Amino acid sequence: VRGQTRRGLLGAAAAAAASTLADGSASAAAAPGGDGDRRVAFHGRHQAGITTPTQEHVHFLALELVTDSPRDLAELLATLSHAAARLSAGEPVGPVATGTAPPLDTGEALGRGPARLTITFGLGPDVFAPGRFGLSTQRPAPLVELPPFASDSLQPGLCGGDIGIQACAEDAQVAFHAVHDLIRLASPAARPRWSLAGFGRTRNSRAGSTPRNLFGFKEGSGNIMAEDGAAVRRFVWARPPESPEWMHGGTYMVVRRIRMLLATWDSIGLDQQEQTFGRHKLSGAPLGARHEFDPLDLQASVDGRPRIPTFAHVRLASPQYNGGQRLLRRGYSYAGGVDEGAAGAGQLFICFQRDPRRQFIPIQHHLALGDLLGEHTEHVGSAIFACPPGCRPGGFVGETLVGEQRRLH
Ligand code: HEM
Repeated sequence: VRGQTRRGLLGAAAAAAASTLADGSASAAAAPGGDGDRRVAFHGRHQAGITTPTQEHVHFLALELVTDSPRDLAELLATLSHAAARLSAGEPVGPVATGTAPPLDTGEALGRGPARLTITFGLGPDVFAPGRFGLSTQRPAPLVELPPFASDSLQPGLCGGDIGIQACAEDAQVAFHAVHDLIRLASPAARPRWSLAGFGRTRNSRAGSTPRNLFGFKEGSGNIMAEDGAAVRRFVWARPPESPEWMHGGTYMVVRRIRMLLATWDSIGLDQQEQTFGRHKLSGAPLGARHEFDPLDLQASVDGRPRIPTFAHVRLASPQYNGGQRLLRRGYSYAGGVDEGAAGAGQLFICFQRDPRRQFIPIQHHLALGDLLGEHTEHVGSAIFACPPGCRPGGFVGETLVGEQRRLH
């Protein structure tokens, strides 16, 4: 690899991918009818992995660019999209049977099928820094650096990134494989900055039931549901005038790595847990209501005190409290290690929206100042990305921004 030009390498990877496509070798079909068999189209007006009903697993990757050439950036985005289209169809990114050369596809997803894999790309604010790629005039106004929040404990190594890649699948190994091979294809133009695997999705669709987070509460009951077209149009898809034309049909993704302190949470009573969220633990219903999808009544009171406490998570996060604004949440749990004598756990909070300046930022300011959940959580990682619209077969995500760079050469 060393000694090859970046362009040559990306070209070789793309050519290898194309040759596998042509001869159909190393196709990775799963047993017909199994979960692994189900595929989600990569191409379309919007990127997949946003209103796609949440899959069981995520593997998130943030890359940082080590090139400063606009043409390299365009080539890289095209290479990543072409690979993502193949992966989403359950195909390897390149040949595995390579003899003395390292296999182009690393092979661990062979035979597992597409498993509803989606790969969603976003571009971080630094991509638009003046003097870097000549893109500063194209920077979307909603793509602001997130401001500091009152309760932040951010670790720089867990923050930021130039290209955010959300790989979700029903199979953890399929999601891992996508990230593994995209890192290899991105080198040497970009290198991994941070990455995290997660499970136990936030619900974003009417289909199925609501999973629970690692505090044992149902998560996603009050979410924007993918089937609610009016809410998705109003709160998720970017469009002019606040977004430039190249982002039309895209969206903005905010990612927060939030540590969940099981040591303190597990020692408080059920009543206090329910007061913290403002919902009942078992049913998921708002406090005082019977059913999970009963409306939040923020005016209700008992003995002169609000039924849903003043500082309950759902009150402070609710549209009623935030000028009518909502988010499409698509978070996942993560776990590992030991944290203050308890199991190490957290949430990779991922949300999509039309304008973070009116959605995530003000909502998070409210939560950071008073949310009772803040006593048991700590925000340690943070990133924001502009996710361009989807692309047609043969096109690539980001071509509305840098497509011209490729055509010029
Ligand atoms: C570890 C961190 C977090 C946990 C465990 C958590 C958990 C929950 C739970 C259990 C609910 C109620 C059920 C539901 O509607 O999903 C909820 C609602 C919600 N959360 Fe969180 N959350 C976390 C962080 C955040 C953050 C950082 C934000 C945004 C800044 C946020 C925004 C919301 C919103 C908008 C709702 C819906 C409120 C409504 O009913 O209108 N959450 N969350």
